Amino acid sequence: EANLKSLGLDRIPLVNLRRADTGPGLRPEGDQVVDLDDQLAVMTALRDEGKIGAIGLSSVTLDGLRRALPAGIACVQNAYSLVARDDEDMLRLCRAEGIAWVPFFPLGGAFAGLAKVVDEPAAIAAAQALNVTPAQVGLAWLLHHAPNVLLIPGTADAEHLRGNIDAAAISFDDTTLATLDAVPSRAGDIVL
Ligand SMILES: NC(=O)c1ccc[n+]([C@@H]2O[C@H](COP(=O)([O-])OP(=O)(O)OC[C@H]3O[C@@H](n4cnc5c(N)ncnc54)[C@H](OP(=O)(O)O)[C@@H]3O)[C@@H](O)[C@H]2O)c1
Repeated sequence: EANLKSLGLDRIPLVNLRRADTGPGLRPEGDQVVDLDDQLAVMTALRDEGKIGAIGLSSVTLDGLRRALPAGIACVQNAYSLVARDDEDMLRLCRAEGIAWVPFFPLGGAFAGLAKVVDEPAAIAAAQALNVTPAQVGLAWLLHHAPNVLLIPGTADAEHLRGNIDAAAISFDDTTLATLDAVPSRAGDIVL
């Protein structure tokens, strides 16, 4: 209700339910832990009332997503990048179910302790060969990796914004793509 008021909308097209069950960030403790089915019941009621258009999930586990599927999930927003690929199975499930995959920290995350795409040797080598930046390689790889990827890379830098948009036009040869595909996941389960 507060979001509708502050945004001046009758309906919010999509709302992500942040589960905080996985990935970098805080974890709910004690009475902060709420059953997923109870939360989905509220989200579904809001959708039935027309106050939200669609339901998304954020920082959700594979089991959580499977449980939520009957509610109708439009997108999943988990931490995922070239260097943080622990959720590969979930991405595949989303693809099979027609659910958009919206990676947060698509460049690995600005927080200390999180692996960064711009430090990844394979991204740096590909960037040099293509005369682009390692960040652009990381974003282009995400777009190549699956058709249901929807990118929202955050930036406060206009030059980065231009570069991030231009990343959509980058293509890789098979060898480069295979090298990038083989980059190991360094995500771990960091709780910030
Ligand atoms: N659901 C969740 O739990 C959750 C968690 C985190 C974020 N999000 C959302 O996900 C979206 C994207 O988040 P994000 O991780 O991209 O944002 P972010 O946390 O702001 O991090 C982006 C970082 O990448 C850097 N960056 C961006 N473009 C770059 C480039 N071309 N070259 C080098 N560095 C570059 C940015 O620095 P510069 O500013 O210097 O470019 C910034 O440090 C946002 O809408 C955010 O609200 C959701």
